[in-house]
Amino acid sequence: MTQAHKKLFIKTWGCQMNVYDSNRMSDILFSLGYKTVDSPEDVDMIILNTCHIREKATDKVFSELGRLRVHKEAREEKGNRMIIAVAGCVAQAEGNFIMERAPFVDMVFGPQTYHELPEMVLKASGNKGKRIINTEFPTISKFDHLPDEHTIEGASAYLSIQEGCDRFCTFCVVPYTRGAEYSRISQEVIDEAHRLVEQGALEIILLGQNVNAYHGIGPDGSTWRLADLIRKISEIDGLKRIRYSTSHPRDMDDDLIAAHGEVKKLMPFLHLPVQSGSDKILKAMNRKHNVDLYKEIIAKLRKSRPEIAFSSDFIIGFPGETEQDFKDTMQLARDVEYASCYSFKYSARPGTPAANLQAALVPDHIASKRLSTFQNLINKQQAQFNKSCEGKILPILFDRKGKKEGQLSGRSPYFQSVYVKGNERLIGNIIDVKITQSFDNSLTGDIVIYDNEAA
Ligand code: 5AD
Ligand code: SF4
Repeated sequence: MTQAHKKLFIKTWGCQMNVYDSNRMSDILFSLGYKTVDSPEDVDMIILNTCHIREKATDKVFSELGRLRVHKEAREEKGNRMIIAVAGCVAQAEGNFIMERAPFVDMVFGPQTYHELPEMVLKASGNKGKRIINTEFPTISKFDHLPDEHTIEGASAYLSIQEGCDRFCTFCVVPYTRGAEYSRISQEVIDEAHRLVEQGALEIILLGQNVNAYHGIGPDGSTWRLADLIRKISEIDGLKRIRYSTSHPRDMDDDLIAAHGEVKKLMPFLHLPVQSGSDKILKAMNRKHNVDLYKEIIAKLRKSRPEIAFSSDFIIGFPGETEQDFKDTMQLARDVEYASCYSFKYSARPGTPAANLQAALVPDHIASKRLSTFQNLINKQQAQFNKSCEGKILPILFDRKGKKEGQLSGRSPYFQSVYVKGNERLIGNIIDVKITQSFDNSLTGDIVIYDNEAA
C-alpha cells in the first residue's frame, strides 16, 4: 500500500538564499512524506520562509499569519492538524515575539537549523504536538545534514556555498540573523554541482550573503577562494553557465577578477553592490571601501572581460546624507553605467548600529524624492542597456513558459528576461535568439534558425 502524501505549502520572501533554503526544506520534508503544493488550503504544514531585510518585515509576517490562521482553523474543525511554521530571518530575529503574539504558530526556527527539521516536525506533529522554537546557531553545519537529493526547477539551479557575514555594514541585519561567515568545504560544493548538472541544470548560481568571501577547505587541504571553486566547477561537462551572488567589493580579489576573463562559462554580468557614491557615507556605513576602489575594481573587471555588465544595490537617504552626498551617488551611477540596479530608501533595522543615528535621519520626503530621482536615472540606464542589445544574437537559457500562450521565458547572459514565441520543448535549452525589440525590463526576439541545422 502506498502511503498518502502529506501536503506542504511554503511561502518564500526575500533573497535567492531563501529560495534555495525553501527548496532544501522541501527536499528534506519529502523524506517524511511531504509533497509541496501551490496553495495553503487544507495542507498538513505551512512554512513561511521570511526575510528581515525589507521594511516592516515582521508586520508582513503577522498579516500573512492572520490569513493562514483561518485555513488552520477550518482544517482543525474537521479534526485534522495543520502545522504552521515560521522560518528564515524574521524567525531568527523575532522568534520569541512570534511565539508570544501568535499562539497558533507551532514552530519557529532560524536559518541555521534546517537540517534539524525532521526532528522538529516529528515533535510538532500529532494531536499532542509540541510548540517548538529553535533559533540557535549550532556548532555543526547544517550543510553536513542536508539530503543529497535535490529538486531542481528549470535549467538554472541555486547552490549555496557560503552563509553569514562578518562585514557588519552598519545598516544591515545579516550578521545578526545569519550569523558569522561560514564557507562550505569545496568538495561538497563540487559534488553538489555535479549532482545538479546530472539532474539537468545548465546554469548554477553560487549563492552566499557575501559569496566572494568564500574560503572553504579545498580537496588538497589548502584554502580555496571563490575563483578556485569557479574554475573547478567550470570543468563539469554539461554545465554551461556559472553566476555568483552577492558580492562585496572588498572581497573581489585579483584572481577572481582574472577568472572573469578566463572562464567563459562565468557569465558577463556581476551584481556588485556599492550602496553609496559618497566616501563619507560609505565610511558611516562601515563599507570598508571608497568610491575610487570600487571604480578601480569595475575597471579591472572590464579589462578582464570587456563585455561584462554590472548591477548594484544602493541605499538612498542613509543618515547624514546631504544633497552633495546624493549628487556623488548619482555621479557614480553615471560613471559606471549599470545594466540594472536595486535601490532602496534607507530604513532603520532594530539592533543595527545605524539605527542609533536617529539625529541624522534624512527627512522622509527628501529621501523619497532622491530615491525617485535616482531610480529615474537607473531606469534610463537599464532601458539604454537593453536597447544596445537590439539586433544582437544572444544565447538565451529558456527555463519556463512565458505569461502569454505559446511564449517562452529565458535569460540572456546579462540576466535580462527574454520572451520569445516558441515550443515548450525548448525549455531547458540554451538557444540563440535575435533580439528584435527591447523594453524597460525585458527583451524580445526570434529564435535563430541556422540553415545547416536539421529542421
Ligand atoms: N535600509 C535600506 N536598505 C537596506 N538594505 C539592507 N539593509 C537596508 C536598510 N536598513 C539593502 C542593501 C542590500 C540589499 C540586499 O538591501 O542595499 O545590499
Ligand atoms: Fe550585510 Fe552585505 Fe554588509 Fe554583509 S556585506 S553586512 S550581508 S550588506
